[in-house]
Amino acid sequence: MITTKRLTLRPIELKDSKDVYSYRSDAETNKYQGWSPKSINEIEEFISKNPKEFNKPTTWFQFVISENDSQTIIGDVGIHFIDKDQCELGITLAKNNHGKGFATESLKGVIDYLFNSLHKHRIITSIDPRNVASIKLVEALGLRKEAHFKKSLFFKGEWVDDIIYATLKKEWK
Ligand SMILES: CC(C)(COP(=O)(O)OP(=O)(O)OC[C@H]1O[C@@H](n2cnc3c(N)ncnc32)[C@H](O)[C@@H]1OP(=O)(O)O)[C@@H](O)C(=O)NCCC(=O)NCCS
Repeated sequence: MITTKRLTLRPIELKDSKDVYSYRSDAETNKYQGWSPKSINEIEEFISKNPKEFNKPTTWFQFVISENDSQTIIGDVGIHFIDKDQCELGITLAKNNHGKGFATESLKGVIDYLFNSLHKHRIITSIDPRNVASIKLVEALGLRKEAHFKKSLFFKGEWVDDIIYATLKKEWK
């Protein structure tokens, strides 16, 4: 569990299905996401596949983000443990919680934890260049642009670009 001033990040559970489905099934929120669940069942299947073990190389581990005051689920963060030293992050917030600094606060909490408690070496994110909100978010956090791959992902019927942002433990403040 990771706690910040306004938020708590905890492993996703089956009881979260309805809340997570409500924003994960929203077409606008999911414009640049590879996965758009069509039913609660799909969400339940996804949750039941969340690894039992945290920090296991080659797996994605999913947290939900809950607001401390209201106890409502406002989004989720996925951590891909690429190998034992490197992670990739993905974040999705419910539309009515955009623009409040919750994504910045969540990712800062996760990155602090990965570097300071788990002693990871490098953290990356993969972003569609059209996803302006995500680019603003990672740049504000201080991640560096490392690569812009041209038409490297086949996404929703077309080849699209992919930008990689990264930060190293020694760079993170
Ligand atoms: C990517 C995403 C999580 C970014 O969310 P966001 O709400 O823009 O990011 P933040 O929560 O950090 O909000 C930043 C904004 O909140 C404002 N803000 C308000 N209160 C704030 C506070 N206390 N602290 C910091 N920022 C605050 C900032 O000024 C900033 O506004 P600006 O963009 O006009 O400069 C969101 O757009 C999303 O869920 N998109 C859909 C899913 C997706 O595409 N994910 C990316 C795949 S990895």
